[in-house]
Formats: sequence, C-alpha cells, structure tokens
Amino acid sequence: MSAAAAPRAHRGTIHLEQGLILQHSAAAAHQHILRISAPRTARAASPGSFVHLRCDAALPMRRPLSIMRAEPAAGWIEVLYKVVGAGTAALSRRRAGETLNLLGPIGHGFEPDPARPRLIAIGGGVGIPPMVFLAERLTTDHRTNWQPLILMGSEIPFPFRTRPSRILVPAAPAGAIACMPLLDEWGVPSRLASNADYPGCFHGHVTELARRVIAALSATECAEVALCACGPTPMLAATAALAREFALPCQVSLEEYMACAVGGCAGCAVEVRTAAGRAMKRVCVDGPVFEAQAVFPPAT
Ligand SMILES: Cc1cc2nc3c(=O)[nH]c(=O)nc-3n(C[C@H](O)[C@H](O)[C@H](O)COP(=O)(O)OP(=O)(O)OC[C@H]3O[C@@H](n4cnc5c(N)ncnc54)[C@H](O)[C@@H]3O)c2cc1C
Ligand code: FES
Repeated sequence: MSAAAAPRAHRGTIHLEQGLILQHSAAAAHQHILRISAPRTARAASPGSFVHLRCDAALPMRRPLSIMRAEPAAGWIEVLYKVVGAGTAALSRRRAGETLNLLGPIGHGFEPDPARPRLIAIGGGVGIPPMVFLAERLTTDHRTNWQPLILMGSEIPFPFRTRPSRILVPAAPAGAIACMPLLDEWGVPSRLASNADYPGCFHGHVTELARRVIAALSATECAEVALCACGPTPMLAATAALAREFALPCQVSLEEYMACAVGGCAGCAVEVRTAAGRAMKRVCVDGPVFEAQAVFPPAT
C-alpha cells in the first residue's frame, strides 16, 4: 500500500496557520473557490493532501477540504467546495481580507508512477480538486514524459465555464469535446461527463467515459496507463472495477467523516486489505489515498 504511513510520521509536517483569504468566488450550484495565503501549507502540499479548516469561530469542528492548487512561491493554496451543511455555509460567508485558521497539509496523496505515464485521473463532483492539483504538478514533473488525461464528472453545473478543448484526445468518444479551460491552458487534456446533457460533455457516468477511452487504446498504450480517482464512493468502486477489468494499477482517495484529522481519534478508520490480512487504517493520515484493490476488493 503506497499510502501506509509509519506511526506518527506526520508529526512536524502538518502546520497550524492563520490563513488570510485572498479571493473567494462563487460558482454555479453553491460551489465556491477560495484562495488562502498559507505559506507553510502551500510549500508542503501535494496532490491528494487536504486542509482541515475552521469555517467559523462559532463552529467547534473543523471541516476537511482537498487542496486544488498550491503556489509555493506566492504562498497560497486554493480549495473548491460545495455548500452542503452548516460548516460549508459558514465558510461561504467568509470574505477576502478575513483570516481562516487551518491545519495542513494533511494526508498521503497520489503517487504517480513514471513507468505508467498515461495517467487517467478521474474526478467526480467535489472529487475534482485533487485532480486539478495532480495535473498541474505533472506539468513540472520531468521524471518522464507524462501524458495525463483528466476526466471529470458532475451532475450539477461544473464549477468553471466549460468550452471545447483545443487538445485532441484520439481515444475520446466523438462529441465529448468540452474541457476545463485552465487545464487546456496548461496543455493538459481533459474531458467532461454528466447525465445532465451539458453541451460537449459525454452523456453518462465519468467511469463509462474512462472505460471507452481505455478500450480504444492499443495493448502497448494500455500497459502505460494507471488510474487515479477521487469522488463519491460508488464512483471509486466503479473505478476499482475498471482497473481490474483492464489490469491497471489504481489509487483512490477516500472521504470519511473526520474529527481531529491528525491521526489521534481513529474516528475515520476504514478496513483495508494488506499483505498481512485485514487492517484498520485512518483515512486522515494513512490516506486519504489508498490502493484501490485494498479498499474495494473483488467480491468473493
Ligand atoms: C479528505 C477529504 C477531502 C474533502 N474535500 C472536499 C473538497 O475538496 N470539496 C468539498 O466540497 N468537500 C470536500 N470534502 C467533504 C467536506 O469535508 C464536507 O462536505 C464538509 O465537511 C461538510 O460540512 P458541513 O458542515 O457543511 O456539512 P454537514 O453535513 O452539516 O456536516 C456535519 C458534520 O459532518 C462532517 N461531514 C459531513 N460530510 C462529510 C464528508 N463527506 N466527509 C467528512 N466529513 C463530513 C462535517 O465535518 C461535520 O462535522 C472532503 C472530505 C474529506 C474527508
Ligand atoms: S479523524 Fe481523527 S484519526 Fe482521522
């Protein structure tokens, strides 16, 4: 398991910061993008890691949000979140110039394998942010000639203005031409899926789009593919099944209810298959990224 951490290995790597809100913009369907000045978190963040935010002084519990972008030189991070309850609603009322107390970066993120440069990263709903981070980091990772493809699914409007991609993806189904413009600007191909009939999007689940793309690859190309996924649990399970079908390595990022988020309460523990048998792992510090087959084993 790539994400297994030695006990207390996170000590000294998670920072407590008083982050200054630099920008806070609202997107469609109660989604928001928040840019926070948090220099120590920005320096140490990696794709798949998250911050534990105090959304409001009146709320005792922090809320975990994935880091979508981190700019170490400028010292800021960005998160993308959807308002679902009291914590995220309180967060949506915070304004630029205010401060936000945060813990970060937390967790073991994605570990792309240079031997598998055709990385297909699948993000569903609020699982999109770590895939954007992964895409950005691959543009500056020169260990290999990465050829990532980012596939995003959403049943509510995407939190960015979609447009036809300028980057050709020969394996993508005809008609699936919409992209995330920021990724196109970075030279990273992306394609979008939804059951909601959005223009240029593949009609169906994002994992079905991934299946069509993989099935169109040659055996040689397929041997260079790995999957990464973040999103709702059914999407992660479908991605793990897809990985089994095509014998692909696959990492998934889990979401669990979190109290401390620093490994102290075991409230986020999940059962994982290891070489030594079943074990309980804390999603916050042992994950949130795990090998897919360890958490979604085939039915026996
Ligand atoms: C590692 C990780 C990364 C995440 N990244 C994102 C992201 O990038 N964008 C985004 O919009 N959401 C993300 N989430 C989900 C987000 O944390 C929850 O939507 C949020 O905590 C809900 O809080 P609330 O008070 O608005 O809602 P409520 O449902 O009222 O929350 C009540 C309580 O449940 C907890 N809770 C509710 N849903 C979740 C959940 N799915 N996971 C963990 N705790 C939950 C809250 O912490 C709170 O204590 C992530 C969750 C995890 C674990
Ligand atoms: S939330 Fe406390 S150990 Fe993970």
